[in-house]
Amino acid sequence: MKTQLLLIAMISLSVNALTATNECDCTEIVQSADCKGGCTWSSADSSCSAKTVDCTTYTTQPTCDAVNTCAWNDTTSKCATFTACADYTVTAADQCYDKDSTCVPGTTGTDGKTPCKTGSVTCSSFSNAADCNFKSPSSNAVCWFKANTCSQIDVSKCSTITDQDVCTILCKWTSAGACAAYTCADMTTAEACDTVLTDDFSGVNICSWDSATSKCSDAADVSALTSANCFDKTAGYYYWDGSACSECSGSSSNGYILAFIGFIAMLMF
Ligand SMILES: *[C@@H]1O[C@H](CO)[C@@H](O)[C@H](O)[C@H]1NC(C)=O
Repeated sequence: MKTQLLLIAMISLSVNALTATNECDCTEIVQSADCKGGCTWSSADSSCSAKTVDCTTYTTQPTCDAVNTCAWNDTTSKCATFTACADYTVTAADQCYDKDSTCVPGTTGTDGKTPCKTGSVTCSSFSNAADCNFKSPSSNAVCWFKANTCSQIDVSKCSTITDQDVCTILCKWTSAGACAAYTCADMTTAEACDTVLTDDFSGVNICSWDSATSKCSDAADVSALTSANCFDKTAGYYYWDGSACSECSGSSSNGYILAFIGFIAMLMF
């Protein structure tokens, strides 16, 4: 009986992927090498903290509007912290979408200028790819133009994505014609064998490379990771705590869904 239980425990351990759902908060990072991306290292007190966004450092409308919390003020031609959709009037109606994900164009006046207002995107209102693609009707959907129609695609999970082009941005399109999350086994090089996104983008599965067989598979633990690769090989879901690779307790924001939508800003400009 005991042996059986042990066997069951071992089997379930070996098939369970090592999933991490909390990205490190800047403040739990203790070595400067891991303090990057949205974090900044202070050598004065050897601490890592979140970078503060200074909107005034962005001097063009596209770079300004691409930053989540900033928006371009057409009156002053300056970048400042986003306030409210209705505060903005733009020369091209489409620019309202760039101010914030909650903004849509209002009615264009006789002067050709368009006041923005709070509202949500309706994919079907767009009639070409440039206007349609990557607009975001909600935090887990994007618009996509195909067969002359702008449709709303659910991007809350790889497995819900019905369009191949949208799928392959972050997930894989299977031979069965469906979208699915990558697995560690899909990674064919040691470099690519680090993490794969979970199906619902809520975290990552940690992978491990076997150099003897040149195969990537689900990691059982992170004991092989070092101060030099713990953070990077876990996509920032673990950090080097001084003596071991430790799981982050940080925020469990749906980082990658946001990335999916944020991406968009990048592709648009
Ligand atoms: C743009 O700048 C003007 C002048 O400073 C200010 O009155 C206005 O409120 C600003 N608009 C927004 C949306 O911040």
